[in-house]
Amino acid sequence: MIRRPPRSTPLYSSAASDVYKRQLLKKAVKISAFAQVEVMKAIHNEMTEREVQGIHEYIYRKYGAAHQGYNSIVGSGGNSCVLHYVTNDNNNIKDQLILMDVGAEYRGYTADVTRTIPVNGKFSNEQREIYNLVYLAQEEGIRMSMVGNSFTDINRASYEIISEGLISLGIINNVRDARKYFPHGVSHHIGLDVHDPGDRVLSENMVITVEPGIYIPSGSDCDPKWWDIGVRIEDDILITNNGPVNLSSDAPRKIDEIEAIMKKKSPLGEFELPVIN
Ligand code: GLY
Ligand code: MN
Ligand code: MN
Repeated sequence: MIRRPPRSTPLYSSAASDVYKRQLLKKAVKISAFAQVEVMKAIHNEMTEREVQGIHEYIYRKYGAAHQGYNSIVGSGGNSCVLHYVTNDNNNIKDQLILMDVGAEYRGYTADVTRTIPVNGKFSNEQREIYNLVYLAQEEGIRMSMVGNSFTDINRASYEIISEGLISLGIINNVRDARKYFPHGVSHHIGLDVHDPGDRVLSENMVITVEPGIYIPSGSDCDPKWWDIGVRIEDDILITNNGPVNLSSDAPRKIDEIEAIMKKKSPLGEFELPVIN
């Protein structure tokens, strides 16, 4: 007779199945974060938006994910200011910021991770100012991702930082105008769907996004030096009784960390194919 050690949680219990489902979602998020890292290493001025999309989606498959969880958004320059831009067909991304909102679907569970990086590896002064503002708004949003808080609390915290920042940069004159450049909410649930249904009040084991952004399209009512800068930073946050846990933290968010990783090489940015005329 085979003797088995007793299990504290039987495998067939719903608690165990919840743990297993969370592991699948965590893996989808980790895969997506590592794909962002690989793109940071591989990207260069001669690439196209489609190639960048291809690297993300290749890494997903390399890790065994079947496909992306939603249409990949890879927008450079002015395209970074277009919400839900999915054509990804700009062939000249040289010296632009590129916004990459992409997520692997792993065994049915979908991540949702955005990084915005300078194609040439170095943020310009204006890009840096806007990026840092979004970063601070995201940090505050993540800090507010606590059991008992609601999406409204997270939204308000991020909005306050962005509106004050845009005023101090001289891009807007009053708080209400911030909506022109930050026109969407900050959080939603993820799980089986990229926009999973769920309660707006947070409880333990939910996984939500925190994704503030600033988008300043060409022709905006501000100094043209800000035009065509679109930045979103999006992370997937596990809500716990001990505070928020960033599941996508493998993909760097701080400017110094992004610039450092972009100095590294990836074979995916190196190889050359025969020319076809
Ligand atoms: N990728 C869609 C969203 O961020 O909500
Ligand atoms: Mn999202
Ligand atoms: Mn997204």
